[in-house]
Amino acid sequence: MILILDFGSQYTQLIARRVREAKVYCEIHPYNLPLDRIRAMRPEGVILSGGPASVYQEDAPLPDRGVVDLGVPVLGICYGMGVLTLFHGGRIGRADRREYGPAEVTVVDDADLLAGLAAEAQPVWMSHGDKMEAAPAGWTVLAHSPNSPIAAFADPARRMFGVQFHPEVVHTRRGRDLLANFLFRICKAKADWTMENFVGRECAAIRARVGTDQVVCGLSGGVDSTVVAALIHKAIGDQLTCIFVDNGLLRHDEARQVVELCRDRFHFRLRHVDASKRFLDRLAGVEDPEKKRRIIGVTFIEVFEEEAKKLPDVKFLAQGTLYPDVIESVSFKGPSATIKSHHNVGGLPERMHLQLVEPLRELFKDEVRELGDVLGVPAEIVHRQPFPGPGLAIRTIGAVVPDDLTVLRNADAIVDQEIRAAGLYREIWQAFAVLLPVRTVGVMGDERSYDRVIALRAVNSIDGMTADWVRLPYEILGRISSRIMNEVAGVNRVVYDISSKPPATIEWE
Ligand code: XMP
Repeated sequence: MILILDFGSQYTQLIARRVREAKVYCEIHPYNLPLDRIRAMRPEGVILSGGPASVYQEDAPLPDRGVVDLGVPVLGICYGMGVLTLFHGGRIGRADRREYGPAEVTVVDDADLLAGLAAEAQPVWMSHGDKMEAAPAGWTVLAHSPNSPIAAFADPARRMFGVQFHPEVVHTRRGRDLLANFLFRICKAKADWTMENFVGRECAAIRARVGTDQVVCGLSGGVDSTVVAALIHKAIGDQLTCIFVDNGLLRHDEARQVVELCRDRFHFRLRHVDASKRFLDRLAGVEDPEKKRRIIGVTFIEVFEEEAKKLPDVKFLAQGTLYPDVIESVSFKGPSATIKSHHNVGGLPERMHLQLVEPLRELFKDEVRELGDVLGVPAEIVHRQPFPGPGLAIRTIGAVVPDDLTVLRNADAIVDQEIRAAGLYREIWQAFAVLLPVRTVGVMGDERSYDRVIALRAVNSIDGMTADWVRLPYEILGRISSRIMNEVAGVNRVVYDISSKPPATIEWE
């Protein structure tokens, strides 16, 4: 196991991604993790991440000094290199100007960390304000750049290494090789973090934890909940019951697809609750988006709880919490990822005295997809675009009217079909239709029409936090638009949303 101590860099998760891509298991923990906990983890190596602070500032975040005396290799990246310098008596100054962006380093010692990288100047990514002025006594300079005379250094005997640049960022062309050198040459780690191993280990852990008790899982038809259910089902079969709540706000044909897949193909024990009427009745006349969200959230919990109570002896609730939701990057910013409300089934575990089973807690989203593949979850689920919990309710602007939902569903199905047909589905974060509460004048044959407007939205995003609108080819926009106007009664105008987030959001409500 490789331990990554987080000093608050925006790249910390990327370090973990790269280590896991090399098939080595790693965990991110706050920089101030107590030494006895570090020892108990028995890491094969420690990586000190970058961070926004300067090691000389008054309240600079520093790890327990003992971390460099554990006898395991340490790699300090950027700020982490500063920590190694500080601990070993080197000198660091504030650079005249922050170095940010591409640079080239020349490798002068390619014994361990930089093995295979000496043949040519190496493009790297720099992002630092501190500057190494003198390496600690006895340490070796491994590489330099025009702006950083000590771009990498080492105490080879103690297997301590530092780099000023960011090997985890793609702009550092041989960054993966550098990290592989650290993991395999230096730490002697084994490349045994594979999904097959994960499934075996996790199934055994689930069986040990659950024993002969029953587990309940809320199934939405999205990637995370389906993969959680598939994994737990593999571990304990019919001790798992899935509850699928149809809130009447799903996309075209979605409920049928979820039920078919889960019941007929996976043979999950599944309770399919059609609660559409309850949801739509409560939403009637409600215009405020946050009120709509609240009603949907509360109603979901109510329905879920009613159903779960019908099951005898349930002790556990399975949830698709992912690693980014779990990591607490403590340091200065507080938790680096706040759990989205939809992940958290609103206090249900406490109310029903259920214990949580969260087998995806160690995984990143793309690892969940890989796990889905290994478990035989079909590609159409594994690569499904995100869909919000409140569903179409926040894509029909204003009050939710059942007939409007039909219009929206039909238009949305056309968007979905055409985006898939164009081969763009996997490239786009989300593409969907929104029904606007305005009527505009049109003409159809000799008739004047006075009908509704559909807005198309297609965005690209890494994590939903920021997004840019997709430059869809005109032909595709044209095809979607004419199909919607021809095929969906009640719509006579289609517009394309060209707003990025921020300042807009992805959803319209
Ligand atoms: P916004 O609209 O905030 O959306 O830019 C960011 C991402 O979150 C999804 N989203 C939600 N998901 N419950 C959810 O489960 C919600 O209330 C909710 N609101 C937005 C949205 O689809 C996008 O992926």
